[in-house]
Amino acid sequence: MAKRVFSGVQPSGVITIGNYLGAIKNFVKLQHEAECIFCVVDLHALTVPQDPKELYEATLNTARLFVACGIDPQKATIFVQSHVPAHAELSWLLECNSYFGELRRMTQFKDKSAKNEVVTAGLFTYPVLMAADILLYQADLVPVGDDQKQHLELTRNIAERINNRFGQTFKVPEPYIPERSAGGRIMSLTNPDEKMSKSSDDPKSYISLLDPPDLIRKKIRSAVTDSGREIRYDEEEKPAVSNLMVIYSLCSGLSLEEIEDKYKDSGYGQFKKDLAEIVVETLEPIQSRFNELCEPGKIEKILREGKERVEKIAAPTLDDFRNKLGLVER
Ligand code: TYM
Repeated sequence: MAKRVFSGVQPSGVITIGNYLGAIKNFVKLQHEAECIFCVVDLHALTVPQDPKELYEATLNTARLFVACGIDPQKATIFVQSHVPAHAELSWLLECNSYFGELRRMTQFKDKSAKNEVVTAGLFTYPVLMAADILLYQADLVPVGDDQKQHLELTRNIAERINNRFGQTFKVPEPYIPERSAGGRIMSLTNPDEKMSKSSDDPKSYISLLDPPDLIRKKIRSAVTDSGREIRYDEEEKPAVSNLMVIYSLCSGLSLEEIEDKYKDSGYGQFKKDLAEIVVETLEPIQSRFNELCEPGKIEKILREGKERVEKIAAPTLDDFRNKLGLVER
């Protein structure tokens, strides 16, 4: 049987080139090899305060970007998390099989709760909802960026714990995380020690998939570089240039060695100029498909069909776990 792939993206503000290169690009690739389910995880976005109108638009836009980036809704299934209540229900059931101590150790929770003024209970239990997303579909493989590694380990631990206690209930999923040199962790353009993040206050630190060409050129021109002038891949000594090289490589198809060779006689100026054009060329077709998908009703139809398909996949797993827990059938 074909392997099943599940992944999700939060509809929080913009979608960055980090989200694209670390995750969505792999979604597009995997749809040809496996049965794929991709989710706009709107319930996860609610763990931090959201403007309701912006969340509504961002949810539709994230789904549009999935399709614009190349996910074919005939091949893969796209849906919105809150449209399938089984996610929230399974999340509760899993929460009752998860421990305060293991959730408290999650580094993303520690980081976010240190940064945010409001720390909701949802922010704390966030990784359990993520486990529910994955386990509900008996997914084999979960393509994500490097920052989700710890959450996937937790998912595997919860699945194994439940299987040990109640008998085989959930497939224990495998992570699919690219190396850093292959996009697993795209760094901020203004601080190469931090990952590129859509929730950053500084828009110069990220490239949004919907940034207009001139803005992309400006952001890449002002991206920080390292001392020296050579274009060389070295995460330790040249983290900023190495990050730009990874973006260059993934957008152009050239290997890191080929890029080093191409720029052995030129400095950062020419390299950045070319990089900006390569990123613009990569994003242009995505942006024009995105605009087509803004026609009223188009994405809504895809999401309705997606919801119907996944509900059928989710139901038997949820029912089986309910029975095992001793909940009376409905
Ligand atoms: P989110 O919405 O923050 O990010 C979506 C995907 O993009 C990856 N990513 C990156 N990859 C490389 N470099 C970066 N700078 C970068 N920033 C983000 C993320 O790793 C992710 O794969 N918790 C998840 C959403 C989620 C999920 C799931 C994922 C909810 N349920 C079930 C997989 C399976 C998140 O917040 O991703």
